[in-house]
Amino acid sequence: MNLPSVAQPSLPPDLNEAMEFIRNVPIFSDIDVEQLAKIVRVGVRKKYKKGSIILLEEESGAALFVILSGKVKIVRTDDDGREVILSILSENDFFGEMSILDGLARSASVVAITKTELFMIHRRDFLTLMEDVPSVAIALLKELTMRLRKADSQIKSLSLKDAAGRVANVVLQLADDIGTIRKGRVEIDELPLQQDLANMAGTSRETISRVIHMFIKKGHLDLQGNKLIINDYEKFKGLYL
Ligand code: CMP
Repeated sequence: MNLPSVAQPSLPPDLNEAMEFIRNVPIFSDIDVEQLAKIVRVGVRKKYKKGSIILLEEESGAALFVILSGKVKIVRTDDDGREVILSILSENDFFGEMSILDGLARSASVVAITKTELFMIHRRDFLTLMEDVPSVAIALLKELTMRLRKADSQIKSLSLKDAAGRVANVVLQLADDIGTIRKGRVEIDELPLQQDLANMAGTSRETISRVIHMFIKKGHLDLQGNKLIINDYEKFKGLYL
């Protein structure tokens, strides 16, 4: 449904602004203006500095978050403090839905990797919304299905592929999460640290460095400072996925 572009006159200006943001979020794209206004009234906007911990794995969870601006990483850590990045989420993505749906502890920690602004909706309000507006529940399921597909691809890569395949899979995952595509070329700004890439690919920093340089030599990738470029995304995907 197309929403009218005029904001609700009954809402204060900052809520009007929040409504403009929220209407772009895919899980809320199919709801009418009154329902949208209801969400905006019950939600809270929160700002986080780069590096802030937004959610901690194992804590209990009572809210869902929508990213209005910025980027977060979803991480799991072991007892020695080593962490693996499961995903990087950015504007219009949401997180925190798992605890809300199953009532268990947070499945992962969430850390701001840039200055980030979030819109927080309490569990009860979100559950009511899903009951009232089935399209929100369907959109949520669609996104969860996409995350499961990605996780399946990661499991396949980690279990069955050699080092080059695993590194390529991580590069393609980052391209999906935070890359910008133009004319078949994908740029990944602010590439995570080599140690992060190594943990994601289940390999060492040395292997990451060796494989990335091998890909550069073959003409698949370019590295400009902290920016990684996939020269021909479809070709690279076809070769290594
Ligand atoms: P929750 O378990 O409530 O808190 C941590 C959140 O991280 C979780 O909800 C999801 O929103 C998000 N999350 C966990 N695993 C993944 C993943 N593999 N990909 C993307 N997001 C995830």
